[in-house]
Amino acid sequence: MTVGPDRLRDKVVLLTGATGGIGAEIVRRLAEEGAHVVLTDLEKSGCQDLLDTLTQPERHTALALDVSSEEQWEDVVAATESTFGALHALVNNAAIGSVATVDEETRSQWDRVIGVGQTGTWLGMKHAGPLIERSGGGSIVNMCSILGTVGGLGNSVAYAAAKGAVRTMTKNAALHWAKARVRVNSLHPGFIGTPPLLERWEGSERHREMLAGTPMGRLGRGEEIAAVVAFLAGDDSTFVTGSEIYADGGWTAA
Ligand SMILES: NC(=O)c1ccc[n+]([C@@H]2O[C@H](COP(=O)([O-])OP(=O)(O)OC[C@H]3O[C@@H](n4cnc5c(N)ncnc54)[C@H](O)[C@@H]3O)[C@@H](O)[C@H]2O)c1
Repeated sequence: MTVGPDRLRDKVVLLTGATGGIGAEIVRRLAEEGAHVVLTDLEKSGCQDLLDTLTQPERHTALALDVSSEEQWEDVVAATESTFGALHALVNNAAIGSVATVDEETRSQWDRVIGVGQTGTWLGMKHAGPLIERSGGGSIVNMCSILGTVGGLGNSVAYAAAKGAVRTMTKNAALHWAKARVRVNSLHPGFIGTPPLLERWEGSERHREMLAGTPMGRLGRGEEIAAVVAFLAGDDSTFVTGSEIYADGGWTAA
């Protein structure tokens, strides 16, 4: 068991949505803690660019993965096994949003949001979970949201539906794999001021609402989410499964 600052030493961790605002911070933290990171996102080139900024880039690998494609999951899990011989953690981080309300949302956007955030998370668990089990056990971190639990600002209905499913699938899978030592937990960020999010919303009414609903009075930072991922991915959390961990500045406590 490795705990402490080097706690991910030589663990193989597969991450989806690696080049996004939070994903890139997770990549940096996992690499700093000694993991071999399998960076995946829609475009391999963005993953490779990010990988090239890491110390010892040769320890990591970059692959294209659309999480809504079962075939691509099969390919990525097979490539991970042939490159590293094992997988110790999966971080199901990729998702897309939609701010539409229940009466505004369109069927096509609903299907896209559910296809990536909900179905993509299930496919990741389905295909990577057995390899984690064969590797001696490990951890699955499903990136959820406060909107997987509470109504938020009363919009983003498709996103809330996807994240609600992520929350309950997490508990279901945790029970299935409990004796196999594959732990499954959901991580629920509040509003995180990543560059893409700020670019879209800074100064808007929505930005003011995000701040007003957060008791700590500020948005979170990507590295504050990455720190919780590192805890959940490694051996500091070996008795934590089926849990929902909030990093939301107090949003759900209010
Ligand atoms: N930023 C926030 O405030 C916030 C709050 C709560 C939860 N989250 C969750 O954190 C996670 C990361 O969010 P973020 O803010 O970094 O978002 P982001 O939009 O910056 O990044 C998302 C990444 O997912 C990738 N992606 C989109 N569709 C994909 C697909 N079909 N297959 C594979 N990858 C795909 C994108 O290319 C992008 O790199 C998401 O699950 C999100 O729901 C974010």
